[in-house]
Amino acid sequence: MEKITYKVLLEKKNNGQKAVLVTAYDYSIGSIVNNSSIDIVLIGDSASMVMMGNSSTLDITLDEMIVFGKSVRKAIKKQYLIFDMPFLTYQISKNRAIKNCGRALKETKVDAVKMEGGYEIIDRIKAVIDSGIPVCGHIGLQPQSYKKYGGYPVLGKDEEEILKILKDGYELQKAGVLMLIVENTTDLVVKYLKENLKIPVYSIGSGTESDGQIVVINDIIGLYSKFTPRFITKYEDISKRIEKALERYASDVRTSRFPKKNKIPTVDRKIFLESIEKINKKY
Ligand code: KIV
Repeated sequence: MEKITYKVLLEKKNNGQKAVLVTAYDYSIGSIVNNSSIDIVLIGDSASMVMMGNSSTLDITLDEMIVFGKSVRKAIKKQYLIFDMPFLTYQISKNRAIKNCGRALKETKVDAVKMEGGYEIIDRIKAVIDSGIPVCGHIGLQPQSYKKYGGYPVLGKDEEEILKILKDGYELQKAGVLMLIVENTTDLVVKYLKENLKIPVYSIGSGTESDGQIVVINDIIGLYSKFTPRFITKYEDISKRIEKALERYASDVRTSRFPKKNKIPTVDRKIFLESIEKINKKY
């Protein structure tokens, strides 16, 4: 089992090999991911929607994220593991950013934390890095700022947006982030970043010209149906399979075919009848 370290991820970039990233939120799915060839696991704040049923990532707290983080950590032995910092746990001040990122790192024992934002929060990102915490950047569309955009648009179509994303990439690399996730931008913007930055550049919804791809695992296995991003391919429809399994279970319970005869604990008939005699005398 090759442990995926940051060195391995850099080698992959430099050899033109794509890294494969998914999110995970709990021990059961995490254990399946651990047995796969996935390179990086993100404990995403998308847990807010796919695990807790909220309507955006704004609702999840650091305490809640830490519960998910600890569960995933127990399952992941092989992959590089990243913890997604929730909204307002790092934006307010450098001190709060260091305190909260440090808490996430210490309590969940991940390899790095992820912070959304470009050069407008570079001082807080740099403060976290300078305090010894490895950081993954997240630029392009930043879901925690969806109210600012009025939704989840593709960014990087006009000059102003292109320059902003490219500047963010250079500034974050200079500040010391280990890798970048670039969300919902155009293929040429991601290609430029991949070719011009030394750090790995991973895409979500931004085309194939990157050092790798990240998705929300529930989207590609069909485990979350409220909203499916436009770029998603469903590789499995787990919900349908679970529904079928539940109906088979329900039918077996209703017709006494569950549990199976050979799995039912039995008692010696004589002992049982003697017990019944005693209980019947009393009641
Ligand atoms: O929380 C999340 O799922 C993310 C994506 C980049 C996958 O941040």
